[in-house]
Amino acid sequence: MFITFEGIEGCGKTTQISLLAAELSRQGLACFTTREPGGTAIGEAIRGIFLHCANDDMLPVTELLLVTAARAQHVERVIKPRLRSGTIVLCDRYIDATVAYQGYAAGLGRDMVMSSHELFVGTLMPDLTLLLDCPVAIGLARSRERNRASGKDVDEGRFEERDYAFHEQVRAGYLDQARLEPARFEIIPAEGTPGDIHRHVAGSVLRRLQGDAHAV
Ligand code: TYD
Repeated sequence: MFITFEGIEGCGKTTQISLLAAELSRQGLACFTTREPGGTAIGEAIRGIFLHCANDDMLPVTELLLVTAARAQHVERVIKPRLRSGTIVLCDRYIDATVAYQGYAAGLGRDMVMSSHELFVGTLMPDLTLLLDCPVAIGLARSRERNRASGKDVDEGRFEERDYAFHEQVRAGYLDQARLEPARFEIIPAEGTPGDIHRHVAGSVLRRLQGDAHAV
């Protein structure tokens, strides 16, 4: 099963992925956590270029080509082999991030993003996408607080620095995607405590896994 986590900056994906990974391991299920852009040595090098604040002159089409290149490498070298061996793959962002950020907020459009995916990455889509949804003001406040607290390398916060309207478009892009593909998406309200959100996330995933087991 291929599960992706999506949402605006500061929606809490990273915390929720680690809580879910711990829960699945407790239940004896093999799972593997990865992220985009990244997940391979080449993908992590691309991530450095993609997120560095010094590269703020980057064209949206260059962004699309970089994340698509990283994804092609990630899917063939990491995700597909793990799925073939029966491991549950948890991925922090995937194609829906490209649709929301480059397609909607940066203006390339959904069609260009989806065509590039089909052309260069292929047909692999998540079995389940958990969209952690919260208002932009809450997400941005959380991500700034997190960066302050962790002393995170702020050089890698190119998108966090975008204006409010950009993040509203990202959120709208995600919600549109969820409306277009209701069977794949689960929208998780992400304003509560990490524990409450985790119960919702774990419930959705375990229901799907049980559904799959019954279908076999
Ligand atoms: P993320 O790993 O969630 O950042 P953080 O380190 O704050 O948890 O995501 C990295 C950034 O890359 C985020 O601002 C969204 C952006 N992004 C895109 O613009 N397009 C994409 O296709 C992907 C995967 C990420």
